[in-house]
Amino acid sequence: MAVAAERTETAEPILRLRGVGRRFGGLQAVDGVDLEIRPGERRALLGPNGAGKTTLFNLIAGEFPPTAGTIELFGEDVTETPARLRARLGMARTYQQSRVFVGLSVEDNIYLSVLGVQTGHVFPLRSAKRDAPLRAKARAAAAEVGLGGRLDSLVGELSHGERRQLAIGMARAAEPRLMMLDEPAAGLSRGERQILTELLLALPSDVTLLLIEHDMDVALRVAQWVTMMHDGRVVAEGTPAEIRANQTVHDLYLGSRYYDE
Ligand SMILES: Nc1ncnc2c1ncn2[C@@H]1O[C@H](COP(=O)(O)OP(=O)(O)OP(=O)(O)O)[C@@H](O)[C@H]1O
Ligand SMILES: [Mg+2]
Repeated sequence: MAVAAERTETAEPILRLRGVGRRFGGLQAVDGVDLEIRPGERRALLGPNGAGKTTLFNLIAGEFPPTAGTIELFGEDVTETPARLRARLGMARTYQQSRVFVGLSVEDNIYLSVLGVQTGHVFPLRSAKRDAPLRAKARAAAAEVGLGGRLDSLVGELSHGERRQLAIGMARAAEPRLMMLDEPAAGLSRGERQILTELLLALPSDVTLLLIEHDMDVALRVAQWVTMMHDGRVVAEGTPAEIRANQTVHDLYLGSRYYDE
């Protein structure tokens, strides 16, 4: 069984948040978050509903600016940098609600993702010569997420778990240095979660992973380091073992549907 690699303590962080906050009207959704992610690290972001996890992803991805603090990506201050340009620096994400083209095939979905990254727009390339390597890249990403045998299947024919694999394949197609996944295991069966966990553990070691996950089994198996949020703030950080033993984590999760011990 694959296990998460050791966390590297020495390398410079590829993502650094200092005092990051986001206010929506009267609501402080994210509040004074400091966070450092190192290359190759597998980090899980936990927290109950409304803790501010997705908002933090949106701030890192550049969907909207923070109302406080600074964000550095790959050593550059990107606090004011638009999402499209941050993606080009080497960041890809998936969404809590999957964004795939239901009427298209697996390969075409991933191909469009490759194209978007390569060219900044998603019109197919006219030159077959330039197109072939991009098609190959799409097929390789499909294989990497276990969909190599489903290239021609329409997304509408895929299971819930396979759609989630596809979303990860679309993010992988961009060959990002930082990949952020928003609740990839949500709503999956036990078997599907197992496949997903193995897939995440098998990602190349240079891919840095920031993973929002309610499923403690998945999160604590995949991550080497865990950040727990509540009411917009970071309330606990540590190794999976430390997080399992943490009283705050138990108070926030115990008795809830999320904790699967
Ligand atoms: N665009 C927005 N405008 C106003 N309020 C927002 C917006 N986005 C999020 N919020 C609010 O910010 C808080 C944090 O939401 P967020 O989606 O970040 O939580 P979460 O930790 O991802 O929760 P969940 O586990 O349910 O996905 C919530 O109270 C939410 O209603
Ligand atoms: Mg969320």
